[in-house]
Amino acid sequence: RRVVAVVPAAGKGLRMGGSVPKQFLALGGEPLVVHSLRVLQSSPCIDQIILAVPQADLDYCLNDLAVRYGFSKITKVVAGGRERQDSVRHALEHVPDETDIVVVHDAVRPFLTEHMVANVVAAARQHGGAIIALPMRDTVKQVGAEQRIERTVDRQPLWLAQTPQAFRCDWLQAAHRKAHAEAVHATDDAFLFEWVGHPVVVVEGSGENIKVTRPEDMVIGEAILGSRTT
Ligand code: C5P
Repeated sequence: RRVVAVVPAAGKGLRMGGSVPKQFLALGGEPLVVHSLRVLQSSPCIDQIILAVPQADLDYCLNDLAVRYGFSKITKVVAGGRERQDSVRHALEHVPDETDIVVVHDAVRPFLTEHMVANVVAAARQHGGAIIALPMRDTVKQVGAEQRIERTVDRQPLWLAQTPQAFRCDWLQAAHRKAHAEAVHATDDAFLFEWVGHPVVVVEGSGENIKVTRPEDMVIGEAILGSRTT
C-alpha cells in the first residue's frame, strides 16, 4: 500500500512578472518548491515523490536540488506539459503499479503541513478522493456586464480548493486519461473526479496554505515564514 506524491512544478509563473518561474523564487532564502518538498519528504505517510518541472530545469532538479536538500524520496523528475493538467498526467505515468493513493500538491503552496498530508490521505482512503479546502469567508458577488452585480451568492456551501489533494491512484489515472482523450480542461485534480462521478470530500485546511501567484504573495509568504520560525 504505497502513497506517491506528485508535485507539479512546471509552470512558467508569468503572473509574477519576472523571468524565474515562481516555483524557483527564493522564500526565506530557499526556492519555493524546496519548502513544499521538505514537508512531503518528512511526511511519514509519503513513500515516494515524482516531480514535474520545465524541460530546461530537469538536470538542475535531479542532480542539484534533490541532492543538496536530501530529498531521498524523489524517485523521478519528469518534464511537465503545456498546462498543469498535462504535467500531472505525465507524472502519473511514472507512478509504480503497487501505488494505492496519489497525493497531488502544487509546488507553489509552500505552507502545507504534515498534518494536512496525513488527514487528506486518510480521507482519500475512506472516500476515494479528498482535498484540503477552506470555507468561503468573504461575501461573493456574481457580476455581469458593465461591472454590475447580478446577485449575491450564498457562500454557506462554498469552499476554496487548495492542495494537497489525495485520490485512489487507479481512479485518478483513468480520469486523467479520459479527460485527455475528450479534451476536458481542469484547474485541479478533484474536478476530474467530480466529472467522472467519484466522491471527493473536503478536509478543512488553513488560511496560511496560500498559493503564491502574484508578487504580493511573496511578501505574505515571508511573513508567514517569519511567524513560524520566531
Ligand atoms: O499556474 P498555477 O498557479 O495554477 O500553477 C499551479 C502549479 O502547477 C504550480 O506549481 C505550477 O508550477 C504547476 N504547473 C505545471 N505545469 C504547467 C503549469 C503549471 O506543473 N504547465
